[in-house]
Amino acid sequence: VTSHLLSAIEAELTRLLTPQDRVPVAVLPFWEALRYVVLGGGKRLRPLLVLHVGMACGASIQQVLPVACATELLHAYSLIHDDLPCMDDDHLRRGKPTLHIATNEATAVLAGDALQALAFTSLLRTPNAPQLLTLAQEFADMAGLNGLVNGQYADMVASAGPVDSASNLEAQLGYIHANKTGALFRFCTRAGARLAGLPQTAIDQWGVFGQTLGLAFQVVDDLLDAQASTGLLGKTAGKDADQDKLTVVRVYGLAGALAYWQQLQHTLLNQLEALFTTAQTPEDTPLIVEAGLALKTLVIGLDRHLTIKTI
Ligand code: IPE
Ligand code: IPE
Ligand code: MG
Ligand code: MG
Ligand code: MG
Repeated sequence: VTSHLLSAIEAELTRLLTPQDRVPVAVLPFWEALRYVVLGGGKRLRPLLVLHVGMACGASIQQVLPVACATELLHAYSLIHDDLPCMDDDHLRRGKPTLHIATNEATAVLAGDALQALAFTSLLRTPNAPQLLTLAQEFADMAGLNGLVNGQYADMVASAGPVDSASNLEAQLGYIHANKTGALFRFCTRAGARLAGLPQTAIDQWGVFGQTLGLAFQVVDDLLDAQASTGLLGKTAGKDADQDKLTVVRVYGLAGALAYWQQLQHTLLNQLEALFTTAQTPEDTPLIVEAGLALKTLVIGLDRHLTIKTI
């Protein structure tokens, strides 16, 4: 099922990045740059999450795919800007040179801008959804001041700033993770549930799961940066320590961060269990059961690249 969904995501992204009208020769490299970043790379975790949750709640792929692709496009833009010399200054992404290395900085800034707008184009393709206005509002909110960009700013000032008291550091770190990563994951799960027509309480319950998943995902990302190899990650390892980033490893230490991840994983599996016992329709179709399994597999597999898993 997952490979079928991955193909659907790839096809839709390809369609969105194929010019409808003739493009002047001088502008073709820009389209190539966008395709270089978006197509054929990355785990596609966010769109898969929208699709799996949507299907777990009874929606069809067609209903959910435009929003799923919107989350991937927003993510791709955030990675381009995150890697810029004025941000994390990274040279490697998804096993390839980052876009500003492959092209130049101005192209990378513009590519990010274009992909953020294209994310809205994709979202607005949602067919006949009475929920579209709410979805667009939540997406805009999450992308900007109530999520991603806000979190990236908090991340930036925390790495530059002086070492604060321990309790303040924990609060600061929680704020960064919740905004720069958690907000998008939360949007993904809420959108899946909303598109399936679930009631508000169930949408909120899926949102809590998404927020926790985003936090867990960033905890693992911080751990991988400290533990894994550049070859395995497809992005430069050890950069967080080099840049004095405020990460779980810096605040809790390696062992503490691992314990934190394990605690989050436990919480996530319990949340899923509760979602599938309370929020589901009485008759679970094979598709719903399969989507539930895919979500569980996703949670369990988040740490598959961690070299030390137990402490
Ligand atoms: C990396 O996200 C950025 C973070 C929020 C940690 P992913 O690890 O999902 O990146 P891709 O899409 O698979 O390359
Ligand atoms: C980035 O966090 C989160 C974004 C919103 C892009 P990181 O800076 O840790 O992501 P990586 O490690 O470069 O992928
Ligand atoms: Mg960063
Ligand atoms: Mg980075
Ligand atoms: Mg990282």
